[in-house]
Amino acid sequence: MAPTASELEDSGGGSGELITLGVLSGALSGLGYYAYDKYKCVYQECCTDEYIPADLDRLEYALTAKLYGQQIAHETIINALRGHLENHNSHKALVMSFHGTPGTGKNYVVQMIAKAFYKNGVQSNYFHFFNGRNDFPLQRKVDDYQEELYKIIFNGLQQCERSMFVFDEVDKMPEGLLNVLVPFLDYNNYHKSTKNSKSVYQNKAIFIFLSNTGSTKIVQHLKNLWEKGKKREDTKLQDFETLVAGGAFTEKGGFHHSDTIQTSVIDHYVPFLPLEEVHVRKCLARSFTDRGVTPKEEMLQEALSYLTFGPEPLNLYSMAGCKRIEQKVATIVYRKQSESKPID
Ligand SMILES: Nc1ncnc2c1ncn2[C@@H]1O[C@H](COP(=O)(O)OP(=O)(O)OP(=O)(O)O)[C@@H](O)[C@H]1O
Ligand SMILES: [Mg+2]
Repeated sequence: MAPTASELEDSGGGSGELITLGVLSGALSGLGYYAYDKYKCVYQECCTDEYIPADLDRLEYALTAKLYGQQIAHETIINALRGHLENHNSHKALVMSFHGTPGTGKNYVVQMIAKAFYKNGVQSNYFHFFNGRNDFPLQRKVDDYQEELYKIIFNGLQQCERSMFVFDEVDKMPEGLLNVLVPFLDYNNYHKSTKNSKSVYQNKAIFIFLSNTGSTKIVQHLKNLWEKGKKREDTKLQDFETLVAGGAFTEKGGFHHSDTIQTSVIDHYVPFLPLEEVHVRKCLARSFTDRGVTPKEEMLQEALSYLTFGPEPLNLYSMAGCKRIEQKVATIVYRKQSESKPID
């Protein structure tokens, strides 16, 4: 059994020594904790600048070099992120919603953002990705999903306020689910109600929604502008923003009649324009060169012949953008290589 304080005193240990011992062990454990806290970050991800460089120059470089035909998205995203990082008094999370036809680069850009923000990219513990179709398939379970989602986001933000939450295929989510996000997105609401409450609080979280909602309107509008002789490069965000917000709100899916929209917590509606042949050619060329092949025109033509362009009668845009071209290119490369091999 451990000796009591009076027994210790009797055995010669004075209370002064006891206090010294206590202070010393307190200091040592404090030091130990400090060292542990410092060195654990050498081995595991922490919510620090080292792990969250948020390197927007790197992102800008990647967008310029690798994202084709999405000038509006490129500028809007970079400006939104710069504004968010530089505004130290922002009480609101940054909320962006990406809209566009398939294969135009929505997920691709999210990956680039994750890579630029987090040292561990999409593998980061602070990067949270949800897929509307797979993670929340049933409308009747919307209450359970809301509870789950609330917990994940609450805990995520407790762990690191510089967390990012991405919701893919929002149009496939049960209606009403996203309403649970509103307190996290809106001005200070979330932090006023937690123990972390500070008078001046910078809300550093980022929320991104991805969907095909509004894309029919984007295509129609771009086509109209084209018919009037306006070049793609001359179009501006304002040409699309209200159009997309309107489309998202009235079309079926996660945003349908949603508080998220009604309370205007989405800061930026980002249109991803349908890709033209010139852009798809760039995707194809990149895919060939990634396989160490310099493509000849006939190879590009063959790959293009597998893709569908629409809408009729102009057929200006690739219906699946740059999606699934990898497989086509792989087949062509494989065939060319086996044709050129000498027969034994
Ligand atoms: N604008 C683009 N510039 C360069 N490559 C692109 C572009 N858009 C798509 N790609 C290529 O096509 C692939 C598929 O695109 P992505 O998954 O981003 O499409 P999406 O817009 O999310 O489509 P969906 O609406 O079907 O989910 C990307 O990984 C990328 O290689
Ligand atoms: Mg996608």
